[in-house]
Amino acid sequence: MRASIVAGWRTPFCKAGTALKDLTAIDLGKLAVRELIARSEIDPHEVDQLIFGTVVHNPHAPNIAREVGLATLPKSVPAFTVSRQCASANQAITSAVDLIERGYARVVIAGGAESLSHIPITVSDPLAQSLTRAAKAKSVAGRVGAFRGLRPRDLLPTQPQIAEPTTGESMGEAAERMAKENRISRQAQDEWALRSHRLAAQGTSDGRLLTEIAAVYVPPDYQVSDRDNGIRTDTSLEALAQLKPVFDRKFGSVTAGSASPITDGASALLLMSDEAAGALGYQPLGHVVSYAYTALDPGAQLLQGPAYAAPIALDRAGATMEDIDLMEMHEAFAAQVLSNLQAMESAEFAERELGRTKPVGHPPLESINVMGGSIAIGHPFAATGGRITMTLLNEMRRRNAGLGLITVCAAGGMGFAMVVEAA
Ligand SMILES: CC(C)(COP(=O)(O)OP(=O)(O)OC[C@H]1O[C@@H](n2cnc3c(N)ncnc32)[C@H](O)[C@@H]1OP(=O)(O)O)[C@@H](O)C(=O)NCCC(=O)NCCS
Repeated sequence: MRASIVAGWRTPFCKAGTALKDLTAIDLGKLAVRELIARSEIDPHEVDQLIFGTVVHNPHAPNIAREVGLATLPKSVPAFTVSRQCASANQAITSAVDLIERGYARVVIAGGAESLSHIPITVSDPLAQSLTRAAKAKSVAGRVGAFRGLRPRDLLPTQPQIAEPTTGESMGEAAERMAKENRISRQAQDEWALRSHRLAAQGTSDGRLLTEIAAVYVPPDYQVSDRDNGIRTDTSLEALAQLKPVFDRKFGSVTAGSASPITDGASALLLMSDEAAGALGYQPLGHVVSYAYTALDPGAQLLQGPAYAAPIALDRAGATMEDIDLMEMHEAFAAQVLSNLQAMESAEFAERELGRTKPVGHPPLESINVMGGSIAIGHPFAATGGRITMTLLNEMRRRNAGLGLITVCAAGGMGFAMVVEAA
C-alpha cells in the first residue's frame, strides 16, 4: 500500500510577538486543520487519525493533536502528538505514511504548530517543591514553613531555552562553532541569507508561496494576516554586513540576518492510501518514496544531520543525488546550510563519516530552496516540516519534476531526509 500526499496548507509564518501573537499553538493548529478540511473538501468522518507535532509544549494540554482534533474532527478520531524538534512535522508525516502503509489507516491528517509568542514560564524546582509542600500543609504555620530556606534566586521564573540540555550549547552557538570549524565565511553566510530573502520575496510577489498559505483573521479585531512577515524586500549585502554577531560577539559571524527568526505558525497535510485517493476522488500531489532519520553527538557538529540522512534516504529510494530535480533544505542558519552542502560535496566527509567512496553530492544551487527558506520565511519549529513538504510538492508540479528531496536538521544532533516522487 503506497501513501500519497494529497493536499496541504499552512498559516502565514509570522515573527513571534507580531501578527499571530494572540493565538496559541493549539489555536494555530486548529486553523490549519480547519482550512485543510474546508479546502480539500475531505469529509472529516473519513479521517482515521490526526498526528501533530509541537516542540514547546503547553504543560496544560500536552497532547496538542487531541486538542486540535477535538475542535476539528469527529471526537472518535484518535490523535497523538510527536516531537522531534525542528523535524516534528516531518515525524508526523512519516508516522502517517507508516500507518497508511501498514494498512492501519486510510486517511491521516499530519502537521505541526508552534507559538513562540507563548513560551511557558515555569518556576524553579525549590519553589515548586515549596508550593507542593504548602498545598499539603494542614496549618498556616506549616504553609509558611514550606517556604523556609528559599533563596531570592529560587523565586525567579524559568523559561525553556533553545539550547541542548546535554551540552548547554544554544543552536546559535552550535551554528557559530560549525562556521568556524568548516571555515564558512561571514560573507558566504550573508550571501545565503540575501538569497533566501530575494527568492522568498520573488515567490511571494509571483504568488507561488501565497498558494500554500491560508489567511488568518486574528481575533479580537479580526485583522487579516495572509503572508509571511519576516521576508525582507529591503535587505542587501551591505545591510547584512552591518549586523553584529549574536552568539559570539567578539569573534563570531552568525547574525540575526543569517539565522532563522523566532516564529509562530502551523501547517497541516492530508495523506491517504492510493486506494483511498482513488475511492474518494483525489489526485495525489506526490508519494513518499523513502525517508531516514539520523543522530550524531550533540557535542560534535550539531546541525550537520542532513549530510548523514540524505544518502540513507536516497539509498532507500534506490536513487542518487543526480536523480533529484528539486530540493528543499530547512535553513536553521546560513552557516548550517553551507556546512551541510560542503559536507555533501566532500569526498573526505563521505569516506570518513559515511564509509562511502564517492561524495553524497547535491543538486545544483538553482534547484535548492527555489523560493528561499526558513531564514526569510521563518521557522515555527514544529510547523516547518509541513511547509517545506508542500513548498516542494507544489513546485515539483509547476516544474513537472520527477523526484524531490527534503532535508531538516534538528536539535539533539538529529537529521532527517525524505525522497518524494511526483504523482
Ligand atoms: C538571532 C536572534 C537571536 C535574533 O533575534 P532578534 O534580535 O530578536 O532579531 P531581530 O529580527 O530583532 O533582528 C535584530 C536586528 O537585525 C536586523 N536584521 C535582521 N535581519 C536583517 C536583514 N536580513 N537585513 C537587515 N537587517 C536585519 C533587524 O532589523 C534588527 O535591527 P534593529 O535592532 O535595528 O531593529 C533570533 O532570531 C534567534 O535566536 N534565532 C535562532 C533561532 C534558533 O535557534 N532556531 C533553531 C534553529 S534549528
